[in-house]
Amino acid sequence: MDSLIIRGGNRLGGTLTASGSKNAALPIMAATLLTPESCTLHRVPILRDTDTMVTLLSSLGAEVSRRDDKAMALQSSALHQLKAPYELVKTMRASILVLGPLLARYGRAEVSFPGGCAIGSRPVDLHIRVLEAMGAVVEVAEGYIIADAPTGLSGAEFTFDTVTVGGTENAVMAAVLATGTTVLRNVAQEPEIIDLLGFLQQMGAKIEGVGTDTLTIEGVASLSGASYHVMPDRIEVGTYLVAAAATGGRVRIEGVAPAALGVVRDALQQTGAVLSEGADWICLDMEGRRPQAVDIVTAPFPGFPTDMQAQFIALNTIAEGRSTVIETVFENRLMQAHEMKRMGAEIDIDGDTARITGRPALQGAPVMASDLRASASLVIAGLVASGETRIDRIYHIDRGYENIEGNLQCLGADIRRISA
Ligand code: EPZ
Repeated sequence: MDSLIIRGGNRLGGTLTASGSKNAALPIMAATLLTPESCTLHRVPILRDTDTMVTLLSSLGAEVSRRDDKAMALQSSALHQLKAPYELVKTMRASILVLGPLLARYGRAEVSFPGGCAIGSRPVDLHIRVLEAMGAVVEVAEGYIIADAPTGLSGAEFTFDTVTVGGTENAVMAAVLATGTTVLRNVAQEPEIIDLLGFLQQMGAKIEGVGTDTLTIEGVASLSGASYHVMPDRIEVGTYLVAAAATGGRVRIEGVAPAALGVVRDALQQTGAVLSEGADWICLDMEGRRPQAVDIVTAPFPGFPTDMQAQFIALNTIAEGRSTVIETVFENRLMQAHEMKRMGAEIDIDGDTARITGRPALQGAPVMASDLRASASLVIAGLVASGETRIDRIYHIDRGYENIEGNLQCLGADIRRISA
């Protein structure tokens, strides 16, 4: 297993180009199952998770090929099986996103029941309930979700009692080929969902209410292939901007959709950073200053994204002042705080709340990654710690960040990957 070795203290400076969004690419790749025609996706990030999705789609019988410019051709003209096996689903929970499209197009799907993960139990009850509302018969047997709709899915009205990104995505991908009209209420509105809806509309899907909490979907008989550019990854961009602010640096990121950053921009400005932006770029300048501490409460979009919480905790550990970070989306997403305490961070965890007292610096230490965004926060902590930090189990990072050490080296960080 690889590790990252970081010698902290360097101020980040320079320019990066954003990657395509992992959390948009994964549902969009799954959505190509909805048509027998060929689809071309651009700006598909090269990650463990997108590689896993390629393996999963190929195992179903899809033809998937990458070009070297991060474009990807996908075609599911005739699948030879409709089962997403445990061996793949256990490595990536987002595999469940093939459930809706397989059911919609083939009337059957078997997906290994995704277990919990480090950040929480991650139930999928709402995915199942909305598909049952559309007429699917769903049972869970021997660790698999087995969904059948032999006569096809029918439009339905359904209200999500919890805002769920994946549940919304599965519901929409099922509804676009259902017979009749589906009305989904209290849907998730993350930018990645808007991107999926844009791709589905490009395929010929009839979807109203994009950007609101209610979607009305008129089922169609079939969908065509499409070509589509995956949106930039707002969480990757936010991660590098937080690293720039924490180190007192100046970083410009190009190929960005600044509006998708939403309230993360406000939080970055509260650190005292100077932000500037254009149509497709954003620049953060901390002007060599120590950041101010920022209070955070996570919430579904347009609230503060839970995927940016750990990164701000890392910044707050060396910021001026005290701060409170409250995680409302997942029940166990503050664990990286315990690893940061090994680096001298002053953090008290009380249920869903982290109370942080900023210190002038952390001390480098060997630490262990536990999930994707927690790993990124340990990298940020290493960048601002004195001495050397070794982060083990960085396969977590490789799931969601393209070449993180290469990008940070370009920005002047003293960071290298070692293979154990
Ligand atoms: C997506 O996960 C993202 N993953 C996550 O990013 C992100 O943190 C999360 O949305 C929230 O924004 C992808 O897009 C691949 P949810 P998802 O369903 O869809 C509860 C990352 O780091 N819930 O919106 O699994 C659930 O327990 C990853 O890139 C139910 O109760 O998240 C949670 O408390 C981590 N029943 C809340 O909803 C259900 O059927 C939000 O989960 C489904 C969810």
